[in-house]
Amino acid sequence: MGSKWTCLMGCVRGVHERTVLSSIKKRLLLAFLCVLTLCLFNGWPRGFQALRAVNPTTFPDGNSSRKVTILLWHWPFRTSYSLKGDVCWDLYRIPRCRLVDQRSWFPSADVVVFHNVELAQGQQKLPLDLTRPPGQRWAWMSLEAPVYKGSLLQYSNIFNMTITYRRDADISIPYGEVLPKEAEEHLVKEVPLNKSLLVCWVVSNFRSHHRRSELYKELKATVPVTVYGRWTERPLASNVLLPTISRCYFYLAMENSVTKDYITEKLWRNAFQGGAVPVVLGPSLDDYKAVAPPNSFIHVDEFASVKDLGKYLQELAEDKKRYNEYFAWKHQWKVKLYTDWRERLCKICTQYNSLPQEKVYSNLEAWANANNS
Ligand SMILES: *[C@@H]1O[C@H](CO)[C@@H](O)[C@H](O)[C@H]1NC(C)=O
Ligand SMILES: *[C@@H]1O[C@H](CO)[C@@H](O)[C@H](O)[C@H]1NC(C)=O
Ligand SMILES: *[C@@H]1O[C@H](CO)[C@@H](O)[C@H](O)[C@H]1NC(C)=O
Repeated sequence: MGSKWTCLMGCVRGVHERTVLSSIKKRLLLAFLCVLTLCLFNGWPRGFQALRAVNPTTFPDGNSSRKVTILLWHWPFRTSYSLKGDVCWDLYRIPRCRLVDQRSWFPSADVVVFHNVELAQGQQKLPLDLTRPPGQRWAWMSLEAPVYKGSLLQYSNIFNMTITYRRDADISIPYGEVLPKEAEEHLVKEVPLNKSLLVCWVVSNFRSHHRRSELYKELKATVPVTVYGRWTERPLASNVLLPTISRCYFYLAMENSVTKDYITEKLWRNAFQGGAVPVVLGPSLDDYKAVAPPNSFIHVDEFASVKDLGKYLQELAEDKKRYNEYFAWKHQWKVKLYTDWRERLCKICTQYNSLPQEKVYSNLEAWANANNS
């Protein structure tokens, strides 16, 4: 709009500088044409801009009011959920989204989603013999760390989009996130109470080569660490997991894979919902800072040694005021976990219109291994 007004003023000023009548007429005509042209370019009537905003060409058939159809080719881990009714609307208030798992939808699907685990294990195959309708996108979906994904070399130039926990995926599906609290939720009291254990860890799969196992061994040489889980004699049933963690000052939210953006329910559920301050080992400090509120966690990289970390935890537990500052974020933020595949799939529809028009992963293996966080 700015340019339109600049041009109009410029043209009018030109008129006043002239004294010859015919020249004034010419200039007026020019000014009129100038304004008209700019009005057309800038979108007048206003509907033009509204039309541009919905980006109708994103749909192969140019119909922007119809539903987006997401076809899930096979269910992750062979566990299916009901897709009856308008699932995305009924469960998540996401409009114009049709989520289906019957392969007969293939010819009219806008996005076909393939979960990696079953492809990697050879239980499922890509339908490479089918002709893709124009504009259809194939999506590669995975929540596993790269080390467990299998080789993707055979998937070069096949997929148009990625759906993973990574922030730079086309559709990012984190294990959890924080959302601003609604006004009425501010009243909920979130004070850490009744803690008797300094540091806790829940581990089912102990491998001595994991970086977290090294850290655990070093830390327990400095401070008491209480360990639960299948690895120890003290497994925790899911209904006692959070109450148990709530009795600990600190929770070791240590990922089994240390890789870009890989932050799992160990942070979002165990530590944040359990009400212990997370001591995190995983991706870089910057990756955590990008998704977790300030002063909500302690990153092991912030310390020169594990001994320093242990000393810090001990001091913090004895200083109630400073310790409680690690819970201040809960006044403004609440934790949301993502556990239902349907919610992740419905999310595609909310971002469908901003997907790149044309995109192919020419080297999915390299993309999936990228670790520059
Ligand atoms: C666009 O899609 C809507 C909803 O499916 C349908 O009712 C409408 O007839 C379609 N319009 C065109 C021009 O195809
Ligand atoms: C505090 O925790 C202990 C177990 O460590 C429990 O027996 C006690 O009932 C708890 N007190 C409160 C007020 O929750
Ligand atoms: C999707 O990938 C295929 C295979 O490389 C390609 O032919 C097609 O143009 C891509 N479609 C979109 C919408 O990017």
